[in-house]
Amino acid sequence: MTEARRPTPPSEGAPARIPLSRPIIDEVDRRAVLEVLQGSTLALGPRAQELEERFSSRLGASCVLVSSGTAALFLALRALGVRGGRVLTPSYGFVATAHAISLAGATPHFVDVDPRHGCITPETLEEAGAGEVSAVLPVHVFGTPAPVVEIRDWAVSRGVPLIEDACEALGTLCAGLPAGTIGDAGTLAFYPNKQMTMGEGGLVILRDPGVAERVRRLRNQGRTPGVMTFEGEGFNFRITEMQAALGLAQLSRVDEWNARRSALAAEYREAFAAMPGVETWAPISPDRRRAGDQRSWFTFPIFLKDTATRDLVSARLATLGIETAPYFPAIDRIDPYRRSPRSPESLPVTTSLSGRGLALPFHAGLTVEERRSVVEAVGRALHPV
Ligand SMILES: Cc1ncc(COP(=O)(O)O)c(C=O)c1O
Repeated sequence: MTEARRPTPPSEGAPARIPLSRPIIDEVDRRAVLEVLQGSTLALGPRAQELEERFSSRLGASCVLVSSGTAALFLALRALGVRGGRVLTPSYGFVATAHAISLAGATPHFVDVDPRHGCITPETLEEAGAGEVSAVLPVHVFGTPAPVVEIRDWAVSRGVPLIEDACEALGTLCAGLPAGTIGDAGTLAFYPNKQMTMGEGGLVILRDPGVAERVRRLRNQGRTPGVMTFEGEGFNFRITEMQAALGLAQLSRVDEWNARRSALAAEYREAFAAMPGVETWAPISPDRRRAGDQRSWFTFPIFLKDTATRDLVSARLATLGIETAPYFPAIDRIDPYRRSPRSPESLPVTTSLSGRGLALPFHAGLTVEERRSVVEAVGRALHPV
C-alpha cells in the first residue's frame, strides 16, 4: 500500500459510542461524487450552477456558493461595503461569526440575547448602547428563528445593512420566510454536523442580484463570470464540483431529515421534561408560531443548574460513551475578543446560557436505541447511584 493510500489513523482517544453528530452519506451521495471524477470539470462547473439555481428557487433570492460558512459571512460583509466600525452581533453563538467580522476589518460589538429564544432582539440591540455601527449580524442560534423582521426595521431606521447568520438554520422560517432571506444578506453552512453537508461549503443569500454579482467576483479573484476580465479585489472562496454534487444529492433529502430532527427534538423534550434539574430550549411561543416562525433543529442543548454541574455531567457522560459539548462558550470570553467593548458581566443571559448549556448527540440518523441510551445516561450522570 502506498503512503497516499494508507487509511487515516484514528484521532486521539477512543471514539464516543454515540457521537454528537454523524452525516448521512449513502450510495446516492457516493455515486454523485464519483460521477464528477469521471469527467474533467472539477471546480465551479455545471453542478455548482445547478445547486445555486436550486437554492435560489427554494429561497426566492440570489444565491452564491462558497467554500465555507465563514467565507460566506466575510463575503456578505465585504460585498455590502462593511470594512470597519462596529458590527452588532450576539456573543452567544459559534466563534466563526466574530472571526468573519474581524476578517472583514470590523469589530464585533456583543449584544445580549433574549432568554426566551437565545437570539438578539431590537431591545437588546438598544441596550447595547453601541453608538455608531456599521452593520447588524444576528444569528439564528441552533436553528431558532431570530426576530429578524423586527431587527430589519431597527437596521433600516439606522441605515445599516442586516446580515443574517443562518448557518445553523437551513429550513428555519421567520414570519413564513426562509431564514437568511429577510436581511440584505444571509448565510448557510454545510460542515458535516449541519442539516445537510457538502463536506465543507457555504452559501451567500442576497436580495439584490447586483450584490450577488459582486460576491461572485469576490469569490473568484475579482473575475467577471464567464470572461477573462478582472476588477477590484478578489479572493479564492470557490467550491469544487465534488462538493456541489454532494450538495445536490443532499438537498433533495434535507426536508425529510429536518422532519426527523424535529421529531427527535420533541422526543428528547418530552423525556427531559420528566427529569428534574434539566431545562430544554423553549418552544416557539404560540404568537410567533402564528406569525409563521418555524424552527429547523441544528442541535439539541440541555441546560443544567450551573457550570460545575454541567461539566460534571459532561465528564460522566463521556465515561458512558456519550459525546457532548458545552454549547456555546460565550465568544466575548474567547481571545481575541476578551477586550471587546462589552464586558462579560454586562451580558447576563449569555453568561447564564453559555455556562449551563450542553449539546447532546443529535442528528437525523440517531437510532431509537441511541436516543434511549442518551436519555438514560443523562439521568445516571445527574444522579449516579
Ligand atoms: C452560527 C455559525 N456561523 C458560522 C459558521 C461557520 O461555518 P463554517 O464552519 O462552514 O465556516 C458556523 C459553523 O458551524 C455556525 O454555526
